[in-house]
Amino acid sequence: MTALVGEEPRLAAAGEAARRRTFAIISHPDAGKTTLTEKFLLYAGAVAEAGAVKARGARRRATSDWMALEQERGISITSTALQFSYRGHVLNLLDTPGHRDFSEDTYRVLAAADAAVMVLDVAKGVESQTLKLFEVCRARSLPVLTLLNKYDRPGRDPLELLDEIEEQIGLRPTPVTWPVGIAGDFRGVVDRRTGEFVRYGRTAHGARTASEERVEPELARLSEGGAWEQAAEEVALLEAVGANFDTPSFLAGETSPLFVGSALTNFGVRHLLDAVVDLVPPPSPRANSAGVVRRLEEAFSGFVFKIQSNMDPAHRDHVAFVRVCSGRFERGMTVVHQPTGRPFATKYAASLFGAERETIDVAYPGDVIGLVNAGDLRIGDTLYAGEPVAFPPIPSFSPELFARVRPRDTGRHKQFRRGVEQLEKEGVVQVLRDPSGDPDPVLAAVGRMQFEVFAHRLAEEFGAAVELSPTAHTVARRTDEATAAALLRTSASIRVLARRDGALLALFESPHWLARLEAEHPDWRLEPVLESGGRP
Ligand code: G4P
Repeated sequence: MTALVGEEPRLAAAGEAARRRTFAIISHPDAGKTTLTEKFLLYAGAVAEAGAVKARGARRRATSDWMALEQERGISITSTALQFSYRGHVLNLLDTPGHRDFSEDTYRVLAAADAAVMVLDVAKGVESQTLKLFEVCRARSLPVLTLLNKYDRPGRDPLELLDEIEEQIGLRPTPVTWPVGIAGDFRGVVDRRTGEFVRYGRTAHGARTASEERVEPELARLSEGGAWEQAAEEVALLEAVGANFDTPSFLAGETSPLFVGSALTNFGVRHLLDAVVDLVPPPSPRANSAGVVRRLEEAFSGFVFKIQSNMDPAHRDHVAFVRVCSGRFERGMTVVHQPTGRPFATKYAASLFGAERETIDVAYPGDVIGLVNAGDLRIGDTLYAGEPVAFPPIPSFSPELFARVRPRDTGRHKQFRRGVEQLEKEGVVQVLRDPSGDPDPVLAAVGRMQFEVFAHRLAEEFGAAVELSPTAHTVARRTDEATAAALLRTSASIRVLARRDGALLALFESPHWLARLEAEHPDWRLEPVLESGGRP
């Protein structure tokens, strides 16, 4: 076991943590997450030119956005975390897959982030997937920055969007920049911190950084006329209602500094990237399950937030992605796998990043490391060196898709059971069982892809092809035995199933009907499944 006890590495861990910003971008598909990611890299100097990702649509269906990006750019991206430096800071941008591969992984990534950037399409406002992801941010009190994107195109009135954000997601936007010109005629922004007009210059296809000119308000009035007058009026209104940036409520996840921009034309990208450095909190010490804090400068510790299994049967690699919480990680060190107490050798920590890509030799709090040959590691597991520590489990998320599963060949029941158990432990799907009857388990997930991965792996790795029968349920609530009995008497369409940890989940076909039951029976225990309880 390699515990780092020297004074230097300890100080380094705290200092390095202070330089880090670990965040995720949440958005509905097509709002501009991939474009913004590229532009962050452009502004950070990690790529010289953006764009030219044309045939992306087709490729995206086959691989994740980031793999496509990586192929295009030849830069160091894992499918999970992208690290780049900006203004002397180290930024870790965690991927939240949002397209076809939307799954519980998407949610779990937020357990490893210290903040989120919420990207909204100015023509569409708050959309369903953003809302779902935001719920997870709220449960963890994660600070959220907001970008109103695509302002270069016709869209909705930004004041109306502020109301919508507040009403629909309960987050109060505090604009830091405000647009001059209506959506589709985007001239620049008022920087509310200085009152200046920031005029943007166009670049061909947004491939290079946009020029920015700071203009005194009086001159802006002359050059922009009515567009400036309107922006000034709206800014006065924002002042009047007190929609001003406020650190404590931002850090508590109650207000959200809002930026207006266009990732495509690069307008506003720098403001947002600067805000990531200036406003996102650096990694802070994490508490263990008992609430005792593991200081940043203590020996290495981290927790697994994602497991990726290679679906190619020739390479059955399990990669565990670990967020570092304290100390300094060095490739090759041996750490302790907390749940089993066994040593875990990390000499393969870097091979995942490939021969031509950067290897991770050292990592600090806030960084993400990928450990290969990690077949024994599970979501939420703690790894540590030095003093033992166990971080709290990552909450499980409210499933919305359900399917009964049985082996196609009943003679392979043993393989089937083993496979189900393994994939459940890995967090591929949640597995629910009927405590009093039906022996076929019910799989529960937030994305359809989870079922596909489950069926594929069960057939390939365990030799048990399965038959999946989706059920009509769309919403789950945590319940207790008394309520369960009452629910089962109410309707044959409700099912009450047990999770591995013993929790009882009641499944309903319609959220409206559930809402009516909740209204009619306020004494029934019907709690949302997403467990809050602070950051793991
Ligand atoms: P996503 O990762 O959130 O799904 O979104 P992505 O960045 O892939 O953007 C979705 C589409 O929206 C892309 O167009 C992209 O160019 C466009 N887009 C992103 N940001 C802006 C913006 O600020 N203004 C405008 N006008 N468009 C924006 P596409 O046609 O699907 O792909 P492409 O052919 O342009 O690459």
